[in-house]
Amino acid sequence: MSSRLTLALRLYSEGKVSFYSTDLEELAKMGLPYTKAPIFYNPRMRLNRDVAISIFSSLSLRSAADLMAASGVRALRLKAEGGAEEVLACDSNCLSAQIMKINVKLNNLSGIRVKCSDARLEAERIAWENERVDYIDLDPFGSPAPFLDSFLRAVKRGGIIGVTATDEPPLFGIYPDKLLRYYGVWGKKLPFCKEFGIRSLISFAIRTAARLDLAAEPLLSYGEGHYVRAYFKIERGAERSKRLLKELGWVLYSEGDFDDN
Ligand SMILES: C[S@@+](CC[C@H](N)C(=O)[O-])C[C@H]1O[C@@H](n2cnc3c(N)ncnc32)[C@H](O)[C@@H]1O
Repeated sequence: MSSRLTLALRLYSEGKVSFYSTDLEELAKMGLPYTKAPIFYNPRMRLNRDVAISIFSSLSLRSAADLMAASGVRALRLKAEGGAEEVLACDSNCLSAQIMKINVKLNNLSGIRVKCSDARLEAERIAWENERVDYIDLDPFGSPAPFLDSFLRAVKRGGIIGVTATDEPPLFGIYPDKLLRYYGVWGKKLPFCKEFGIRSLISFAIRTAARLDLAAEPLLSYGEGHYVRAYFKIERGAERSKRLLKELGWVLYSEGDFDDN
């Protein structure tokens, strides 16, 4: 084993910010996919971040947290373009956190706190210390299901949570067992599986929030590339949450429903 660790970084720009992250071309030359990057950055998720920034600024929100911040690009953009006053950027990968600190300085931005910690621990700390934020972003590898409880506790009442899910095979009903275990949804792959996946994610968020006496009102949802995304406004109140629960129902579909004849 070599005693030296070499990290190939590259300077990227997205929106109004510049930042260092893993050199994806160098990684590809080694035959490794972007998911194996020591510091994660996926340029194809730019629209995901663009929409988050637009929502944040159009609702004139003030504080934000990206607790799975990777290179920090989303956190930097929330500050530089979204007009956030305070941003918390956290990642369990301490190397990512080190690079984020460099990226904050590079953009000459103040009001961004960087931490290396587990996202759930950090979300629970935010709730416990009453430092809840106006906007929280949940952008994990795969399913958001294991994180949603903690993240919901960390958002202010009246605040927004943005949730990405990249675990399409379970959500789309290709793995019905995992769909049931992770999302509490019973179903199988249908011709409109993306729509079904988005609705399954929304249903899961509404039911998870209801357990915390919170109402997760869906504001916007869409699917793009390899992920689905939904935004919710979080309000307190059993009545509100009951009203949302009553809107959940079944998808009725018979084989052949979409046949031409
Ligand atoms: C999909 S990337 C996030 C991308 C980032 N939000 C963006 O817009 O570029 C997921 C990140 O979550 C981090 N991560 C994985 N598990 C975590 C955990 N339990 N707590 C905190 N961060 C975690 C990974 O190190 C990785 O950087």
